Amino acid sequence: MARILPISAFQLLIISSLLSSFSMILVSAEDDEFAKSMDPEVFGLKKEKLTHFRLYWHDIVDGPNPTAVTIVQPPSNSSQTRFGLIRMIDNPLTQGPESSSKLLGRAQGFYGSASQEDISLLVVQNFVFVEGKYNGSTIALMGRNSLLDKVRELSVIGGSGLFRLARGYALLTTQYYNASKSDDAVVEYNIYVLHY
Ligand SMILES: *[C@@H]1O[C@H](CO)[C@@H](O)[C@H](O)[C@H]1NC(C)=O
Ligand SMILES: *[C@@H]1O[C@H](CO)[C@@H](O)[C@H](O)[C@H]1NC(C)=O
Ligand SMILES: *[C@@H]1O[C@H](CO)[C@@H](O)[C@H](O)[C@H]1NC(C)=O
Repeated sequence: MARILPISAFQLLIISSLLSSFSMILVSAEDDEFAKSMDPEVFGLKKEKLTHFRLYWHDIVDGPNPTAVTIVQPPSNSSQTRFGLIRMIDNPLTQGPESSSKLLGRAQGFYGSASQEDISLLVVQNFVFVEGKYNGSTIALMGRNSLLDKVRELSVIGGSGLFRLARGYALLTTQYYNASKSDDAVVEYNIYVLHY
């Protein structure tokens, strides 16, 4: 008995300290609960729908009122692909390809030359709608834009407002490009968005 007692006392100490830390975990889980499961339908997330948008994106680099401004120059002028160049954009999104066409929103973000081998951009932008029921809602787009390809694809990685939890993709085709006019371009965007 005398030999067992000290062990029992030690075990008791371990067990009681385990129990007290366990009860502390239980108490703290009750006190500040930070996650709980919810019914998506209560949140209005009932049926996902697919919407197709066709918009024209105007990259105005030249002239007195550019909407795309170079914020980082390529570190070397010997790069054929201007690797390292970054431009911040606030480009008009219109209903038709003409610059006078109705404004539907703006593309805000940046793009950068991300390839040393070909002319390929990393594009990160929010499409902010200013028209109709979409006014104020945004779609977040990100992806690789390899400029020499006839059709390029970006991912819809999310959104806000009517586009909460959005996913999808955008197909890009160039409508107009003038290299002698400091890169000005008009690009058609066909965006397929799944949203609620
Ligand atoms: C590259 O060329 C531009 C325009 O000529 C010039 O402003 C810039 O300083 C040059 N950059 C380098 C790294 O030489
Ligand atoms: C879009 O929303 C803004 C801010 O709420 C408002 O000022 C503007 O008039 C709205 N535009 C249209 C076309 O409804
Ligand atoms: C490209 O821009 C130059 C300089 O502004 C202009 O002279 C030329 O007509 C433009 N080309 C096209 C196809 O619009």
